[in-house]
Amino acid sequence: MSESTGKPTIYKGLVGVYADVSAISKVMPETNSLTYRGYAVQDLAENCSFEEVAYLLWEGELPNAAQLAAFKAETAAEREISPALHRVIREFPKDGHPMDAIRTAVSFMGMEDPETADVSDAAQRRKAKRLFAKIPTAIAAAYRASKGLEPLRPDPSHSFAENVFHLIQGKVPQPEVLKAFDVSMILYAEHTFNASTYTARLVTSSGAEMHGAITAGIASLKGPLHGGANEAVMHMLKEVGGPEQAEEWLSTRFDHKALVMGFGHRVYKSGDSRVPTMTKYAEKMAEVVGDRRWMETSRVLAAKMLREKNIHPNLDFPAGPAYYLMGFEIPLFTPLFVAARITGWASHVLEQAADNRLIRPLSWYTGLEQRPVPPMSAR
Ligand code: ACO
Repeated sequence: MSESTGKPTIYKGLVGVYADVSAISKVMPETNSLTYRGYAVQDLAENCSFEEVAYLLWEGELPNAAQLAAFKAETAAEREISPALHRVIREFPKDGHPMDAIRTAVSFMGMEDPETADVSDAAQRRKAKRLFAKIPTAIAAAYRASKGLEPLRPDPSHSFAENVFHLIQGKVPQPEVLKAFDVSMILYAEHTFNASTYTARLVTSSGAEMHGAITAGIASLKGPLHGGANEAVMHMLKEVGGPEQAEEWLSTRFDHKALVMGFGHRVYKSGDSRVPTMTKYAEKMAEVVGDRRWMETSRVLAAKMLREKNIHPNLDFPAGPAYYLMGFEIPLFTPLFVAARITGWASHVLEQAADNRLIRPLSWYTGLEQRPVPPMSAR
């Protein structure tokens, strides 16, 4: 509070504000590290499947073999979306963005869900699992409809990663590609109070239900300062064209004081904990595909950003080219982020609801002082 004006300190962008406690994940910017339920994210990425990490985030512990088998069977059985949702998806504008498609599909799923209005912990958990299972099906159906293609049916024997490739691309790739994709899902799964997660918690704080919170989270994730950056990174790499042009392209960018997508982070100022692991797997994709151009271009951009601006890449920087090399079209990159982050969002919805207080901050008024309403003839 300023003594002369009485104006309180305004935390624009809530920078540095601890808005609540959470036991789900921990970011330690001083060591560039991130843990989910106490496990280092890079260890989870190397040693676990995405399904194991989803279970960990929701249940608090890694599953044993029987628990994992039950979780996989339960979610695989929920992958189909309804005929009504398929009809709605076919009506989506063909040039609509896939993020708007999945946001709308999730909202529709909420209207269909047999437990929509039940915000008990048990019902919310069941809804989270249904969303985890159905989101890839809806992303793929909308994508294929936009191309005039029929949707493919999920195969319950597929892993989460196999299912995504099968539904979108119509084929299951080799194990190295599946592993790289699973790693991206694990790294994207959860990241404390980022914009979309906080949005989901804020919606939950009013007593609203799971599908509403996730729909709002998707809307927030779309923005280019948040999840939309993985698409923007690939557009940028294509615009740069190759490693030979990267230095000059970036200098022009600096001249215009323009943002460079995939760099910078609100919390990490000396390196994003997830980047080394994702870069390693993006490099593997470049080897598998036999196209090193995007990773070489990335390397030149990252080196110059660090040297001249002291700004490090964030997860979206290697994830963008990794998805491109896996054969996904660019507008699908942020929807793939949704397919991963549903796990983190749902964990936060459950945590918020379990110890809720309505989130309602204050605003410091800077508008006109109170004045009389003039009659129509005087306006
Ligand atoms: N390109 C160029 N300059 C940058 C970048 C960037 N990507 N990021 C930060 N800076 C500059 C800022 O302009 C600022 O410079 P100034 O002090 O001269 O004004 C300085 O670095 C400090 O940055 P802040 O504005 O304090 O960073 P903030 O915490 O507000 O923003 C954000 C973080 C939004 C991620 C920002 O770095 C950005 O826009 N990056 C590009 C978009 C992006 O990659 N988003 C993905 C985030 S990670 C995720 O969602 C998975």
